[in-house]
Amino acid sequence: PDSLQAAAARTGLTYGAEVPDYRLDLPAYRRAVARECGMLVCGTAMKMVVVLAKPGLEDFGPGDATMRFARANGQRMRGHTLVWHDALPDWVQPLLARSSPAQAEAFLRRWIGAAAGHWRGQIESWDVVNEVLAIGEVRRPDGLRETPWLAALGPGYIDLAFHILHEVDPAAAGTWNEDAVEQDVPWMEARRTLVLRRLEGMLARGVPIRRFGLQSHLTSTLPIDQERLRRFLAEIGGLGLAIEITELDFDDRAFPADIAARDRGVTDMARRYLDVVCAEKAVLNVMTWDIYDPDTWLNDHPNRKRPDGLPQRALPLDADFARKPLWHTFHKAFRDA
Ligand code: G3I
Repeated sequence: PDSLQAAAARTGLTYGAEVPDYRLDLPAYRRAVARECGMLVCGTAMKMVVVLAKPGLEDFGPGDATMRFARANGQRMRGHTLVWHDALPDWVQPLLARSSPAQAEAFLRRWIGAAAGHWRGQIESWDVVNEVLAIGEVRRPDGLRETPWLAALGPGYIDLAFHILHEVDPAAAGTWNEDAVEQDVPWMEARRTLVLRRLEGMLARGVPIRRFGLQSHLTSTLPIDQERLRRFLAEIGGLGLAIEITELDFDDRAFPADIAARDRGVTDMARRYLDVVCAEKAVLNVMTWDIYDPDTWLNDHPNRKRPDGLPQRALPLDADFARKPLWHTFHKAFRDA
């Protein structure tokens, strides 16, 4: 059968993947990504930790290399990520901590002007803010995570970031990318209500937000409540926002060690999730976070890796870039959408 990007395109969706820039040296990787993906996003190359690694220097090299690869393969690019509490260069946290709000805003304008300015007109959507909600029990009434940006600028930092991006590159859609909004933990309904209330507020204030991104790092230890997920997506669409599935992958740590059992478990998760996602007309794209198993971040993460330490089968292609059952589940979900 043909590629994931072709199957997705036939149903009006875009399939793509995050690529770590260091991987683009591998010919077999380049061939697989060129074949399967209609859109790319950089795992780290467009983050502040790379672009502003040293004060006063701007390193667009890794991002430019990925952009050149995408352009050579007719692939679109999305940007990740402008405002996040992680992947900050060591010199930035102290700088924000000693900045007045005006100085912090000036720094934010300089950073977004550099990143979104350098790739102006080449990025379809930017994750303007990433993971802004506190996880689990909520300490602040507004549910915001305590971050260096919140400390320096107050809750208005989120609106401000969207306004700055819109000034720098009006052609790029602004996305609020969030994690842990997909599966059913006790506090999920409250978290989703926070998202919807905040989105309504931003739209009411005229904030130029166009899309909401669900990271979708699905875990095998939690259920997927299709009805509640369907309702959440419909409510976001109902606000006139588009939806991006930005970092889809499947940890298989709850499944037994044998490969067939793990592939069955992961394809079940994928089918349950994609059937709902592909049926929601506001969903524009489905991006997996990496595309082949050896590259998944899950094996390095303390609470996502398998207790038995086996490399996880989280992505559509295996270590030989062969199409796994999960690839076929994606292909069928796009065909049936
Ligand atoms: O490339 C350098 C290498 O030169 C150096 O030797 C090595 C040791 O310091 O670091 C390498 O950089 C690492 C980079 O990944 C490249 O793979 C960084 O240390 C490491 O922190 C970085 O981790 C990335 C992480 O975000 C933080 O930026 C992961 O690859 C990436 O998968 C992960 O992605 C995040 C999304 O941005 C947001 N959602 C969650 C997702 C998974 O954590």
